[in-house]
Amino acid sequence: MSADKIWAEAVKEKILNKMVCVRERNHGKLPYTTDLNGRYDDKSDKKIAYGPDDGLNWWTNGFWGGILWLMYEESPNKADKSLYKSSARMCLQMLSATLDSYTGLHHDVGFMFMPTAVMQYRLTGDDRAKDIALHAANILAGRFNIAGGFIRAWNDIPGCDTKGWAIIDCMFNITLLYWASKITDDPRYKQIAMAHADTVMEHFIRADGSSIHIGEFNPYTGEYICNHAGQGYSTSSAWSRGQGWALYGFTLSYLHSKKEEYLTTACRVADYCLSQISDTYIIPSDFKKKGEGNIEDSCAACVIAGGLIELSTVTKNGKSQTYLSTAVNILKALDENRNDYSEKTDAIVTGCSAAYHSNQHNITMNYADYFFIEAIWKLTDTTTETW
Ligand code: GLY
Repeated sequence: MSADKIWAEAVKEKILNKMVCVRERNHGKLPYTTDLNGRYDDKSDKKIAYGPDDGLNWWTNGFWGGILWLMYEESPNKADKSLYKSSARMCLQMLSATLDSYTGLHHDVGFMFMPTAVMQYRLTGDDRAKDIALHAANILAGRFNIAGGFIRAWNDIPGCDTKGWAIIDCMFNITLLYWASKITDDPRYKQIAMAHADTVMEHFIRADGSSIHIGEFNPYTGEYICNHAGQGYSTSSAWSRGQGWALYGFTLSYLHSKKEEYLTTACRVADYCLSQISDTYIIPSDFKKKGEGNIEDSCAACVIAGGLIELSTVTKNGKSQTYLSTAVNILKALDENRNDYSEKTDAIVTGCSAAYHSNQHNITMNYADYFFIEAIWKLTDTTTETW
């Protein structure tokens, strides 16, 4: 066994040990971040299924269920396995209530239902979970703007018309559409996913391989208007988590479609990231905001590492080795300097940042944990497809 594999197996052991208590404390919740005592909050306690994008509709609500399914897959203990399964099923049961509403649901149904409904269907063959995932896919497909060839992000924000907005994060949501086409043998979903990816490839990825966060189109004519900084530092900067969504997302689009340009684009974004990553492997919140006052984002680190691992499986020789070893170095930096494996606290990955200009820095975020665990599982040869 290689030294990296031995290291990844040891990290897996630490995760398996910690998560037994974390599951027990959080059964029946939909957590996002932890409080000052290191304990999870609960987005399901604000049962706003019909209102704004919070409570049950909060976009990260699928990741706790996703973590539980990852634990279910790898837990060596039969009793724990069954507990992970029942907690994960409970997440989907709560989350599925959002599909009774329209207002407040958004493009992030992919992030919500891929790690929950699709994983439940894949791992248990549950037809009800499949139906829920297909409903979510139809909601996502319904957000496609034909004139611009993009999936609309978010809903109306008071005082701001967002009908023409698309975001780089959505490169992950479209995996729900690739899945729906495969499962129904109906090409419509994949056609929409690829049309969106083509638009993003044309308007979001800059010549240097970096990506913008938000692109604005005229929703009536489809004309591209401008970009917005979104969660990044500025309109000309490179929000690191967005680079992760682009790198990993285009790799996934390539895997689902085999369209070569998606692979080339994923490599261009990856090479840009590699050119910006320092030898500490600590990832800043924005790659183009240099110097004093920069903040870090461990969540971006997890997404970028996951993308690089996946990209290393479809690239050749030296390139593949570079992508894989960079991913391992990023994950090792988190393991050594940022991760918390104590059973007293709920989250693993610390040092996350919600957005460059938010006041939520140095926090935990459930999707950092999800992508960290997923990456470690990939390095230890867990084979179940996630996205
Ligand atoms: N908007 C998705 C993210 O925070 O990464």
